[in-house]
Amino acid sequence: MISARTAENFNALMHKLESESRLIMGVTCAFKKGGHKGFAAFSSNEGHERWRYSQKVKYFIEKFGQEVKLGTIPEAKTTYASPVEALASIYGADMEIRNLIKVGIKLANEDEDYEAAYYMLKIGKMMLHEVNEVDNVMKMVKNSGGTPEGLSRVDYWLYKEYYEDHDHEHKKYDYYGYNPCGK
Ligand SMILES: [Fe+2]
Repeated sequence: MISARTAENFNALMHKLESESRLIMGVTCAFKKGGHKGFAAFSSNEGHERWRYSQKVKYFIEKFGQEVKLGTIPEAKTTYASPVEALASIYGADMEIRNLIKVGIKLANEDEDYEAAYYMLKIGKMMLHEVNEVDNVMKMVKNSGGTPEGLSRVDYWLYKEYYEDHDHEHKKYDYYGYNPCGK
């Protein structure tokens, strides 16, 4: 058993991860509309990863015999002023998730839910990697000068890295049927 508070924190984390995965699919849509197929490959990959993490959290909730309460997931915005703004929205959501995890671990330890705290820590480690990954792409955009030529160089690199060179799971663009761009 875990405390009601820990169960609530797991449910909040699952909700936030699912919401972020949708937000990122909206970002992917914006990149595709802007002709940035490398950025789109990158963000689609990230959207799938956040969704996969949400499923891990769901598994933990079930493992502890608690009720899975997902609630309503907001529809994703599909228009951004610039690639920088779109990337910043992913970064911001990642940081919110990291904060939820930070507080979740602290409270789970207080309630002596050590196994739950350990699982949160595992998700936290994965999110640390994700935040760094998004931060690196933001730095690449900054270093490119943000000009159309600079952005297209970054876009090309991302396309090679996230589409051509690796068999990333984002190649299935319409994960769990959610694709705000339509077909
Ligand atoms: Fe990632």
